[in-house]
Amino acid sequence: MANSHCVLEGEVVFLRYIQLSDVNDVYLSWLNDDKVMKGIISSGYDLKNLKSYVKDKITNKNTHFFAIITKSNNIHIGNIKLDFHDSKSNLSELGILIGNKNYWGKGIAKEACNLVMDYGFRKLNLRKIFLAVFENNIPAIKLYKSLGFKTEGKLIKHVSVDGVLYDKYLMGIFCNDYLKK
Ligand SMILES: CC(C)(COP(=O)(O)OP(=O)(O)OC[C@H]1O[C@@H](n2cnc3c(N)ncnc32)[C@H](O)[C@@H]1OP(=O)(O)O)[C@@H](O)C(=O)NCCC(=O)NCCS
Repeated sequence: MANSHCVLEGEVVFLRYIQLSDVNDVYLSWLNDDKVMKGIISSGYDLKNLKSYVKDKITNKNTHFFAIITKSNNIHIGNIKLDFHDSKSNLSELGILIGNKNYWGKGIAKEACNLVMDYGFRKLNLRKIFLAVFENNIPAIKLYKSLGFKTEGKLIKHVSVDGVLYDKYLMGIFCNDYLKK
């Protein structure tokens, strides 16, 4: 069973709202791990600016920022958010990071994304969820396609990683299509 802070409960993980106390050396180590950050642009965090980033997100009414916690041993292994909620166009941007690499490839990102998409479409009544992903982030692209996201466009040779230029894909899923699944 998930603990009392649980907001969204899956089979393997539960999601609860992230707190400032979640910002610690472990969380910071994810953002300094080249393997985790291979497909993400990041601007060099330390504990101070990470705290202020999380504080901004927590206090922003257009962001729903969750910690991903394992149910078996209550470990914080990553984060997921619905960000930049635009109430006029009724859409939000999905972002996910499983920082603890021991938990990759076990279906956890898929479970967490489904929990948040369900929340976005059924509770927040979003019309659409969108995201951006770089061409070199094969695991993330597979994940999003398996969730039903469709590629809507791409920015060509948009990002440089280790001197190689990659496209940036823009992907989206509509509420109707998600609920049909
Ligand atoms: C991308 C990421 C979220 C995937 O998390 P995960 O928990 O390992 O993914 P899952 O186990 O839920 O897999 C989901 C799907 O992606 C596929 N997948 C995951 N990792 C893969 C890999 N390395 N190679 C190929 N496919 C992969 C799975 O096969 C699965 O597809 P299926 O449902 O059709 O079987 C994780 O690697 C991560 O956090 N990376 C660093 C941060 C990041 O890049 N975030 C995305 C930014 S756009």
